[in-house]
Amino acid sequence: MNEIEEQKQYMQKVKEINENIKQNDKENNKKLKYTILTMGCQLNENDSEKLCGMLEEMGYEKTENGEEADIALFNTCCVRENAEDKLFGKLGELKRLKEEKGISIAIGGCMMQEKHITDKIKQSYPFVDIIFGTHTLQRFPEDLYKVLTEKIKLEDILDIDGKVYEGLPIKRDSNIKASVTIMNGCNNFCSYCIVPYVRGRERSREPRAIIEEVKDLAKQGYKEITLLGQNVNSYLRVEREKQIPFEEYEGVHSFATLLEAINKIDGIERIRFVSPHPKDFTDDVIDAISKCDKVCKLVHLPLQSGNTKVLKEMNRKYTKEQYLNLVDKMKAKIPNLTLSTDIIVGFPGETDEEFEDTLDVVRKVKFEQVYMFIYSRRVGTPGDRMENQIPEEIKHKRFDKLKELVESQIEENNQKYVGTIQKVLVEGESKNNQELLTGRTDSNKVVIFEGDKSLIGQMINLKIVSEHMWYLKGEVVEK
Ligand code: 5AD
Ligand code: SF4
Repeated sequence: MNEIEEQKQYMQKVKEINENIKQNDKENNKKLKYTILTMGCQLNENDSEKLCGMLEEMGYEKTENGEEADIALFNTCCVRENAEDKLFGKLGELKRLKEEKGISIAIGGCMMQEKHITDKIKQSYPFVDIIFGTHTLQRFPEDLYKVLTEKIKLEDILDIDGKVYEGLPIKRDSNIKASVTIMNGCNNFCSYCIVPYVRGRERSREPRAIIEEVKDLAKQGYKEITLLGQNVNSYLRVEREKQIPFEEYEGVHSFATLLEAINKIDGIERIRFVSPHPKDFTDDVIDAISKCDKVCKLVHLPLQSGNTKVLKEMNRKYTKEQYLNLVDKMKAKIPNLTLSTDIIVGFPGETDEEFEDTLDVVRKVKFEQVYMFIYSRRVGTPGDRMENQIPEEIKHKRFDKLKELVESQIEENNQKYVGTIQKVLVEGESKNNQELLTGRTDSNKVVIFEGDKSLIGQMINLKIVSEHMWYLKGEVVEK
């Protein structure tokens, strides 16, 4: 029996426990409930969808109301410090629910791979029932079963790289857009980043498993697929370089060929991917984006810094000029290309002049969207050991300066949309006004418009009539 089949047996066992509780409590004949709080990136969101899939398989139902939950689950991130404050704040609140109702509390994800964090939880929040890491997510049913039956506290963390598991149940948040993890881990060791320490080394999923999953999603009616990985454009690279065997399937042996194969799947209308690394952006990937009609022409290309010296200290393996040349090459080869990026301000040693280079790149490239971060020291990374840390107030000043530039560019850029016709995938009702619908352009801009609910899930043409910083307003164009 493989490990996932074994876990399916644990899912069944927990389900039986829950059925018994229901039968013994006839007055209160309701399903047991769980809440889940997900922090961090889309990879974590995808992991959470798997945790939700396992919980539903075990007979639990999702609730947004913490007061009625029987299990509270956290899927944590540790890329920046604010996630820690958020977790500890929430745990403080949960103590009361633990005492009053005896709910089960489980914490998983990246932060649990950090020993100083798990030590703190065990010492200051001893009421937490399960602590599990990034390499043991698939064992959650077994962990939960043990906690429920043996009334123990459990820590299930591995420091070695986990395997790639197939066949876990999954409960997706949307029935229009789906994310598909194509690889786990990272080998790049950017000097500010904790990810390689908590997610382990790169390992890719087999092409067959990915293609079959996307075909199945297409059959279920999904229209948009986002391929996920810490470094998607090195998909299968380690396997090729180290001659780790993998089975080529439908011509897939690299990231470019994966895009081409998914582009052929009927029913899928849009393909996105995050995140690629500029140093691995080879010509075959650029060509694949250019020729695959379903691959969105918005590429997320993390810059981090626009200064060559800072980039070297960050261990990013490209210079300012190489980044700009790559952008020029991509713009020349991919018609209608738009770009988004990640930028960190206040990396150790960054001077005002060096920060100006970042602003210079932002001015030149004119990104569609910029995700801006203030450098956050992460225990165990080379960046944390550097002596020339930047004072908080300077970091904040630089952040504000960058934000001002980015926002002025967004306003200018939004103007370009007004009067144009955009293809929009309609995602549902607008959150702020249920009379309106919301969707996204190829370049991932939110568009709000009036329309019939039957349009949800369809790709339609909208005329953009006005811009409002974070969204556009559109009108349906009659066919
Ligand atoms: N401090 C600030 N931002 C960080 N990121 C990663 N590590 C840190 C850190 N220590 C940002 C990078 C990355 C994004 C996901 O988070 O910009 O691309
Ligand atoms: Fe972190 Fe760099 Fe890996 Fe991205 S590529 S996960 S920033 S180490």
